[in-house]
Amino acid sequence: MTDLRGKTIAGSFFHAPEPDGFQFLEDALVAIDAGGDIAAVMAPSDAGYAAARENARNNGTLVEIPAGCFLLPGFVDLHIHAPQYPQLGKALDVPLEDWLHRHTFPLEARYADAAFARRNYEALVGDLLAGGTTTALYFATLHTEATRILVDICVEHGQRALVGKVAMDSEADCPPYYRDASTEAGLAGTRALIDYVAGHAANHGLVHAVVTPRFIPSCTDAMLEGLGAIAGECGCHVQTHCSESDWAHGYGLARYGVTDTEALDRFGLLTRRTVLAHSNFITNDDMDRIAARGAAVAHCPLSNAYFANSIFPLRAALQKGVRVGLGTDISGGPSASMIEAQRMAIAASRMLETGVDPALPAASRGRPGSRIDFALAFHLATAGGGAALDLPVGSFRPGFHFDAILINPNVAGSTLRIDEHTDTSADMLEKTIYTASKSNISSVWVGGRPVTGRSSA
Ligand code: GUN
Ligand code: FE
Repeated sequence: MTDLRGKTIAGSFFHAPEPDGFQFLEDALVAIDAGGDIAAVMAPSDAGYAAARENARNNGTLVEIPAGCFLLPGFVDLHIHAPQYPQLGKALDVPLEDWLHRHTFPLEARYADAAFARRNYEALVGDLLAGGTTTALYFATLHTEATRILVDICVEHGQRALVGKVAMDSEADCPPYYRDASTEAGLAGTRALIDYVAGHAANHGLVHAVVTPRFIPSCTDAMLEGLGAIAGECGCHVQTHCSESDWAHGYGLARYGVTDTEALDRFGLLTRRTVLAHSNFITNDDMDRIAARGAAVAHCPLSNAYFANSIFPLRAALQKGVRVGLGTDISGGPSASMIEAQRMAIAASRMLETGVDPALPAASRGRPGSRIDFALAFHLATAGGGAALDLPVGSFRPGFHFDAILINPNVAGSTLRIDEHTDTSADMLEKTIYTASKSNISSVWVGGRPVTGRSSA
C-alpha cells in the first residue's frame, strides 16, 4: 500500500464519467498532487506522455500498477444506516413498519452507549473501506455523542463521509425509548453536529454534516420546518426517506394530501443538496419537481426487494433529468457491498422491464425500456453518486480527488477470471461487476491516502 500523494501512477483505469458508457484508460499516467487530487491524466498517445513517465521515474515518484491489475474509482454509497450493521442479514421477512419498531429502533437505541457505538462504527467503516466504499452518505442515530463518534472514526480511517444525526420527534410514530427528547432538542442536536464537524481540527473537508429527518412519519411539522430552516441557513446536504413503500408513501398522502416529495419541498427540504432515499412511488410530477430543484435519489435495489413493494423506475427518473446514485441501505439491504448493489440494480431493472408474473400475458407484464446495463450501474455507483453529492469524486478527471480501488483478479479463490488474450476491456469491466468480490480489492485510496492495509501496489 503506497501513499500516492505527489506520485504518478502508471496503469490501466476504468471509469464512467457520464451515464452513457465507460472509458478504459489503458496504460495511462495519472499524476496526483500533494493534496491527493488528480493533477493530470495522460494516454500513451498524448504528446507529453513519454517525457512525463521518464521524469516521474527519474525523480522516484512513478508507481507502476502490477500486470493484470487495474483501477476503478472508489464507490459512493449514497444511502447507508451506519448503526444497523450489527443486524445485517437479519429480520428481512417483516414489513418496513414492523421492522422499524421490532428490530431497528431497539438496535439504534443502543447507541446511547458510546462504547457500543465506537465498537460497531469502527468495524463498519473498516469493512466498507476494504469493500471499496470511499464515500458514504450515512444516517447515524439520534444520539449526538454517538454521531460525533462516527464522524471521528471516518476522519481517523480516512473515509470521505457525510454524516447525519437522525431527527425523529413524533410521539405518535416513534417509541418513547427512541425519539428526540423534544423538537427543540432534536434541532439543537442537528446544529451541534454541524458545528462539531465544522470545528473538527483533523477533518480538512473529508467529512460533512447532513440534515437528516428520518422520514415524514417520524417527524412533527415543527421538526420538518426547523430542519428546513437549518438546511437553508447552513447550505448542508439533506437526506431522508421518500415514498419508499406503499405504507410510507400512503402515510405522507394521508397526512398532507400530497406526496412526500411535495411535502418535503414545502418544508424547504428539497434542495440541490438533498438526497432522497428510495423514492419508488414518486409520480411523474414528483420527478419533475426533484429535477427542477436539482435534488438526487439514492436507488437502493437490494433493500427495495425486501421493504419497498416495488422497483424504483430508474430509467424514467434519469430521462427526467433526476440525478441518481446507488445505496446499500444496510441493513434494509443485507449487503454492504457496492458491487452487489450494482448487480442488483441491473437485475431489478430487468425485472421491471419484463415483469415477473408469468400468469400475465408477456405484453402486459413489465415496463418497456427499464433495463440498465453494467456500464450504467458502474456509473451510478461511482460518478453518478459523486455528481448527486456535487463532490469531485467518482472518476479519474483532473481536479477530482484521487479516490480509487485496485482490482487484482489474481488472488486465491477469485471468481473474477480475466483472460488477457480473449477478454476485451468491456468484458473485463462486465466480469468485474458481476463476479468480483472483496478479495479482489487489494488496495483502496481516499485522496491518494491508503486507507486499508491489505496488500501492496
Ligand atoms: N424508513 C425510515 N427509516 C428507515 C430505515 O431505517 N430503513 C429503511 N429502509 N427505511 C426507513
Ligand atoms: Fe434507509
